[in-house]
Amino acid sequence: MTIIHTLLATLPLLAAAVAASNQGHHGGLPKDLVAPHIQAHPYAPGNFRPAVPRREHGHGKVCTIKSHNGDAGPHIVAAARKCNHGGTVYFPPGVYEIATAVDLTFLQDIDFAIHGTISFLQDAKYWETQTFKYDYQGAKLFWRFGGKNVNIYGNDKGVIDGNGPYWWGQMANDSTTQRPIMFGTDGLHHATISGLTMRNPPNWFNLIANSSDILISDLSLQVDPQPKETPAKNTDGWDTYRSSNIVIQNSVIINTDDCVSFKPNSTSVIVQNLSCTGSHGISVGSLGQYIGEVDRVEDVYVYNITMANAGNFARIKRWGMGTVHNVTYDHLYSNSNDEVITLTQCYYAVNQTMCDRYPASLEISDVTFKNIWGTTTKKYDPRVGSLVCSSPDVCHDIHATNIHLEPPSGNTATYTCVNLADSELDINCV
Ligand SMILES: *[C@@H]1O[C@H](CO)[C@@H](O)[C@H](O)[C@H]1NC(C)=O
Ligand SMILES: *[C@@H]1O[C@H](CO)[C@@H](O)[C@H](O)[C@H]1NC(C)=O
Ligand SMILES: *[C@@H]1O[C@H](CO)[C@@H](O)[C@H](O)[C@H]1NC(C)=O
Ligand SMILES: *[C@@H]1O[C@H](CO)[C@@H](O)[C@H](O)[C@H]1NC(C)=O
Ligand SMILES: *[C@@H]1O[C@H](CO)[C@@H](O)[C@H](O)[C@H]1NC(C)=O
Ligand SMILES: *[C@@H]1O[C@H](CO)[C@@H](O)[C@H](O)[C@H]1NC(C)=O
Ligand SMILES: *[C@@H]1O[C@H](CO)[C@@H](O)[C@H](O)[C@H]1NC(C)=O
Repeated sequence: MTIIHTLLATLPLLAAAVAASNQGHHGGLPKDLVAPHIQAHPYAPGNFRPAVPRREHGHGKVCTIKSHNGDAGPHIVAAARKCNHGGTVYFPPGVYEIATAVDLTFLQDIDFAIHGTISFLQDAKYWETQTFKYDYQGAKLFWRFGGKNVNIYGNDKGVIDGNGPYWWGQMANDSTTQRPIMFGTDGLHHATISGLTMRNPPNWFNLIANSSDILISDLSLQVDPQPKETPAKNTDGWDTYRSSNIVIQNSVIINTDDCVSFKPNSTSVIVQNLSCTGSHGISVGSLGQYIGEVDRVEDVYVYNITMANAGNFARIKRWGMGTVHNVTYDHLYSNSNDEVITLTQCYYAVNQTMCDRYPASLEISDVTFKNIWGTTTKKYDPRVGSLVCSSPDVCHDIHATNIHLEPPSGNTATYTCVNLADSELDINCV
């Protein structure tokens, strides 16, 4: 580690010297710079069309970003404008610090080859007035990607580093510290994001919003262990919002909040072959958080996931108005998680009495949990799951089959089951 850090520290100077002669260079990309061939596997939504790698034969401009001591932000925007419509923005190995918000929502047929480390100015006060701000959950972004036909890739070299410890430290002193989400799409269609390491985000790692046909593959998301006084906060891996035809696959996530979370109006989303450690699981919701809004989560398939040391694994949590329809969790491997299956319609109600009195106005239907194996922790032993609906009118066709979970006591695994209509439950409800 020390050797790598020392090496990285000397790289900006080297990269700056090389890049100067390379700016706006026409011609072939070095072979290791082209977008990798990745495919949604084994599942893909119907009619899934992420971006195709287009520049394999060396066509198109290359716009090389210099590794500066100063703000990389304006250089990134300028390079993207110059190389838009068929080129590649290249970040050679080196360190790039973004110190002004970067709006990349004008993209069309462009690649981003990130072989360096991108980070963001550590100044919470400054960013308060600089980030892109959204109404939804007070989301804020340092930079955002939107447009069509875009490949963003790191070829297993690129790193995006959120310097989380700085932000969590600020947070420990002032809980109102505004912490940006580290990576965001807003209106991105037909794109791939791959081969990157993402590290220590101030807040969520990724927000995928207003987007469609996005393939996310081969990422490594890491939150480093933190001191007790300044814990990592809200480090969701991916949150999808108002988006459809999204595939998230073949990635390793070590974090402290949801591994993946399907937020309002996420439809046709497939999550497959992930290894999640330390998280809060793969969650639907929360939904209907804003009064008068009808949220939908539909056609979600979660497949072949290994989850370790998490609070929950498969979780549907919600309140307010909306529908959850056709959500499947299939092939889940549980390694010491507290609760493996959780369906709660009354996420915010303090107890069942209050939940019955103020039932959620929503509908949960066609939800399947199947082919699930592994172990749980002592926390709720022998309970390994709970399926709690506010009323059978709004909660039906819930399936739980071929589930083999072993609580540490060796007792038979149990589940709390309440108000489930027309359901096929091959589990031990108590
Ligand atoms: C938090 O506040 C204390 C006391 O004002 C200060 O000593 C410390 O450096 C602050 N920590 C951070 C991370 O800002
Ligand atoms: C998504 O699109 C809506 C409608 O155009 C817009 O109001 C919102 O700011 C966009 N982004 C997010 C993250 O909500
Ligand atoms: C699953 O993901 C890992 C990376 O986390 C990758 O090495 C492996 O090839 C993937 N497996 C399949 C079947 O795609
Ligand atoms: C499931 O994921 C594991 C790695 O996490 C991989 O080795 C295996 O090939 C995957 N299986 C399928 C059917 O994709
Ligand atoms: C979700 O979609 C429904 C229509 O299906 C719409 O009424 C609602 O406003 C959308 N919600 C959000 C957050 O975009
Ligand atoms: C349920 O969702 C999955 C995953 O998106 C999809 O393949 C399937 O067609 C959907 N089923 C129905 C009946 O719409
Ligand atoms: C449920 O919560 C309500 C509101 O806090 C309280 O009045 C009631 O006694 C609780 N009921 C039970 C059974 O704990």
